[in-house]
Amino acid sequence: MSSSRACAAQIKKYGGSDVVEINTNTPKPTISPGHIVVEVHAVGLNPSDWKIRQGYFSKGESKGEPPTTPLTLGGDFSGIVVEVGENVSDFKKNDAVYGTALTLAGGSGALAEFASANVKNVAFKPKNINHIEASALPLAGSSAVQALTEHMELSKCQKILIHGGAGGIGSFAIQLAKHLGAYVATTASTDDTAYVKTLGADTVIDYTKENFAELLKAYDAVYDTVGGETYKKSFKVLKSGGIIVSMLEKPDEALMKQYGVRAIAQGTLTNTAHLTELAKLVEAGAIKVHVDKIFPLEQAGEALSYLEKGHPKGKVVVEIQ
Ligand SMILES: NC(=O)c1ccc[n+]([C@@H]2O[C@H](COP(=O)([O-])OP(=O)(O)OC[C@H]3O[C@@H](n4cnc5c(N)ncnc54)[C@H](OP(=O)(O)O)[C@@H]3O)[C@@H](O)[C@H]2O)c1
Repeated sequence: MSSSRACAAQIKKYGGSDVVEINTNTPKPTISPGHIVVEVHAVGLNPSDWKIRQGYFSKGESKGEPPTTPLTLGGDFSGIVVEVGENVSDFKKNDAVYGTALTLAGGSGALAEFASANVKNVAFKPKNINHIEASALPLAGSSAVQALTEHMELSKCQKILIHGGAGGIGSFAIQLAKHLGAYVATTASTDDTAYVKTLGADTVIDYTKENFAELLKAYDAVYDTVGGETYKKSFKVLKSGGIIVSMLEKPDEALMKQYGVRAIAQGTLTNTAHLTELAKLVEAGAIKVHVDKIFPLEQAGEALSYLEKGHPKGKVVVEIQ
């Protein structure tokens, strides 16, 4: 393979795991102003990655219509800077960095040997963890930081309910809430109850057997990573003046009025500020990364299916050799 060609996991049409192709002769991304090119060591997967594969985010195109050019999947990465674009002063060649190279965020896609990323979506990798662990952090960790510290301003002695505690976001949110001194209740399946306790959850509700809305009351905050009925039922758990932040649902004005609470729909910013804050929390030992399974790049399609259907505890990572 020439040095200007590289390996990448791409799609030419939307669909299931079978549409993911491993192309060994893709052009290495070219450098552009405000960007860096990174040798990718590991890629952390998020539900948005299989949703993009499925066509959920295709703009102006109907679901199922092919992308105009082969699309490299993946966003969250950890790796080493190999090229620096014009107007970039914070990073230099050989820096260890992490962040997102999601195509929707102006990157070239992370599931590749090399990726281009906008420096606004990059920070220095936490020093005390390896690339595999660091790649698992960007979107899910930034989500938890943004929701708990900015929207909720969660503090000591407050009570928070975190839905989906065993998931990517939930796993980081439980640890961050405990670090901030809050009391944490979480929902998880039977199989995941022991895992979420190891993360620090004080009360665990098995969502397959119990109704959280009947068990909890007067909570200061709810962090919803599930949506649907779970979102609607969560208003009942809040005290007047409380707050619900959802990763999936728009604020329900009627329920906000009925319960006298605030509701926010979060669009996570995987930006340098959040990533830097996250790195500090990881280096201080407040947040640990739990990687459920590691796949090679050749099995990127299987890795996305495992995240979608395999009920992982924590994160799924693709290692780029
Ligand atoms: N708005 C944004 O900017 C943004 C950013 C990031 C993510 N998101 C969205 O946020 C959601 C969560 O992301 P994630 O990375 O945490 O996903 P994830 O890793 O797939 O975790 C989701 C978790 O929710 C659990 N769950 C499913 N149904 C549940 C229920 N009824 N009650 C309680 N828990 C339940 C799952 O457990 P089981 O194994 O039992 O199914 C899983 O552990 C995704 O839909 C994602 O697309 C939005």
